[in-house]
Amino acid sequence: MRFHIVTLFPEFFREALSCGLMGKAVESGLVEFSFINPRDFAVDRHRTVDDRPYGGGPGMVMMLGPLRDALSGIERPGPMVLLTPGGEPLSQAMAARLAEGPDVTLICGRYEGIDARLAELFPLVPVSVGDFVLNGGEAAALCLVEAVARLVPGFMGKDESAHEESFSSGLLEYPQYTRPEVFEGLAVPDMLLSGNHARIAAWRREKGLEATLARRPELLPEAGLSARDVEFLRGKKGPGLGRNLYVALVHGPVLDRHGKIGTVSLTNLDVHDIARVSRSYGLGGYFVVTPLDDQRALAEKLTGHWTRGPGRAANPDRAEALALVRIRRGLDEAVEDIAGERGMRPFVVVTSARTEGAGEFTGFARLREQLATRPVLLVLGTGSGLAPEVMCRADGFLPPIRPFDAYNHLSVRSAAAILVDRLLADVY
Ligand code: ADE
Repeated sequence: MRFHIVTLFPEFFREALSCGLMGKAVESGLVEFSFINPRDFAVDRHRTVDDRPYGGGPGMVMMLGPLRDALSGIERPGPMVLLTPGGEPLSQAMAARLAEGPDVTLICGRYEGIDARLAELFPLVPVSVGDFVLNGGEAAALCLVEAVARLVPGFMGKDESAHEESFSSGLLEYPQYTRPEVFEGLAVPDMLLSGNHARIAAWRREKGLEATLARRPELLPEAGLSARDVEFLRGKKGPGLGRNLYVALVHGPVLDRHGKIGTVSLTNLDVHDIARVSRSYGLGGYFVVTPLDDQRALAEKLTGHWTRGPGRAANPDRAEALALVRIRRGLDEAVEDIAGERGMRPFVVVTSARTEGAGEFTGFARLREQLATRPVLLVLGTGSGLAPEVMCRADGFLPPIRPFDAYNHLSVRSAAAILVDRLLADVY
């Protein structure tokens, strides 16, 4: 496998590529490195490789000429990877594809980046090693080199170690232990001393599943779980962030189709379905908000049938869901309820299919951060959406569910389910 590394700092790599297994792989000729320095292709006497950005702004941009000449001189470049924080995230699957070789070219940017036209001259593949900014692509290229080289057959002592570890199975790695058997009172798990290889393999799988659920649950859907794995994980998640989330469905004041402010009637389906979502995701509560006395009385009758009346015995699961419903006159009452029971005012976030009138959007990641530390009240409107007087009292706005589509007419109960799942997304 040949790595062609285009860098202004070839010395950055020398030590790192001469240690351990990588050093051995270089010595045996299994992997080869060549370094191409764009500065060697500069044409002025200062050997200039960068210049000021068009349009102004800080920093310098790597010029096209030296980079073009550096790349053109590589006889068999293979895929041309540009290391940049804006690239596709480096993954084990990408490393495995690149390890099929025989060549790969890595272009390390410096300064504020490279002239964008380089991508029109060469088929560049932008790759990032994480959501952070390094001084240049060199440290990122080192990560990529190591991830790829160790997959080249013959690189590792035992070929199986490449397959058993984190990410190859799609899961985080199970814990490893070595001698002594007891260290400062800490014993190696008995199972690993049992000599029963099938049971040890099953134990390790379970430990990998647990670690992934705890630290990287988003990997689980892609990890090819078996029904037995799913069974093993069921109930292991703990209460999670759901308890901090409350939903309010506001029937008034809301807008009608012509933009007039009014109150909309209750819908049985919304009461039931959002209650079922709330119970399924372990929410703190579901407020049905309407200023109309007769509508609140209707809601009480309806929920009472399932929570206290004949419905309770007929369908206890439904009773459990509808027990989360609290019927309130206005949003203030809901906020006070939550503040009373949690000792903290909730962060009130409103949603709308429309964008006009909304301030800066609160992304889902930011809202999840809020959820980790305090209650959050997610407010949904019936009719054609919440009235401006409700919108303007919010602490945050979620973007519409399909912000870039012209057609945006989900039912409010579908929207509730989608939003709750985006916030608390489960794993499988
Ligand atoms: N260059 C600077 N930051 C980088 C990153 N995060 N990934 C890849 N290349 C980079």
